[in-house]
Amino acid sequence: QEIEWTLEMAEKAGYPHFMLKEIHEQPKAIRDAIHGNRGIISKVAEEIAGYDRVIFVAMGTSYHAALVGKYLFQRLAKRIPIVEEASEFRYEFEDLVDDGTLVIAITQSGETADTLAAMKLAKRKGAKVLAIVNVVGSMATRIADLTLYTHAGPEIGVAATKTYTTQLTVLTMLAIELARKLGTVDPEYLGELERGLELVPDLVEDVLTHEESLRELAEELKDKRDFFYIGRGAGFPTALEGALKLKEISYIHAEGLSAGELKHGPLALLEDGVPVVAINPSGKVFDKMVSNIEEARARGAMIISLSDREELSRVSDVLIKMPEVDELLSSIVYVVPLQILAYHLAVLRGNDPDKPRNLAKSVTVE
Ligand code: G6P
Repeated sequence: QEIEWTLEMAEKAGYPHFMLKEIHEQPKAIRDAIHGNRGIISKVAEEIAGYDRVIFVAMGTSYHAALVGKYLFQRLAKRIPIVEEASEFRYEFEDLVDDGTLVIAITQSGETADTLAAMKLAKRKGAKVLAIVNVVGSMATRIADLTLYTHAGPEIGVAATKTYTTQLTVLTMLAIELARKLGTVDPEYLGELERGLELVPDLVEDVLTHEESLRELAEELKDKRDFFYIGRGAGFPTALEGALKLKEISYIHAEGLSAGELKHGPLALLEDGVPVVAINPSGKVFDKMVSNIEEARARGAMIISLSDREELSRVSDVLIKMPEVDELLSSIVYVVPLQILAYHLAVLRGNDPDKPRNLAKSVTVE
């Protein structure tokens, strides 16, 4: 029997959608990000180590990467960065930026209008601008003083997947190197983290082998109307990103929250069977998360926990069992099941995950 191959089928390498292909490319993309930056990260860290005023600017998924960057800079380099949506920064920060400021712009495409405008403003004010970019030679790389590439390769699906996990990889390398230069953290621990990062692609591979159970979970969830994603620390940006993936491609209403915010309003929306996705790797906020999970559970929510700790099944309707990973590296691994879940929910609801309605891969107008 002859199968007629179209160019598109060939490009999808046997996957039904680009998004799924790109989700599965993550172990390789993360390895490429590590190898591609190993030789240059120390030099870049050297150039930015003197700046204690750091502002991350980005939009969309890249904004969530910036929040992970902030977390890593705080924990490792003991810096307290500001994270601003580029669309806010460009109008509100005119008087707040000077030549003592480091602006780190994160953009997959290197062409997002608001991010480019924020970078230009920063340059005009004399700030140092570092760009973390995927697309080689894009506009952002021409504006920036320094560029780190994510080496993710082309991403066709509108919803960012491998470009996000590679942004996190580069940010982790940068924060480790900065901490080393500044002497803010025990160098032995930094070495451990570095070796841990090398193993992250294997952990992601492991998560990818559980795709079928995530598809089955999606079957169970496909008619739900609202989702809540909660996390703390490294899990907070993951909650935001999990919710964004769901909104973008499945068109289901979803909110990502820091778990502490639950009591300050969103709890009023919880009723029987509303899915609450709790991101809870072992680490310093594990127990605090358990109390938040219990709060939600007491209101009848359906608890879907992501954790390496089996004991969470006691307070969860579903436990997505995750591999053990240092909490500082966990945001790279924990987002993957959320990407897969959003993908299958989109497909089950009859949507084309590669081309979500009303959205563009690259927003080059305001
Ligand atoms: C669009 C895309 C998102 C992306 C955002 C920022 O909204 O659909 O996936 O995160 O732009 O894009 P950038 O290229 O600047 O990372």
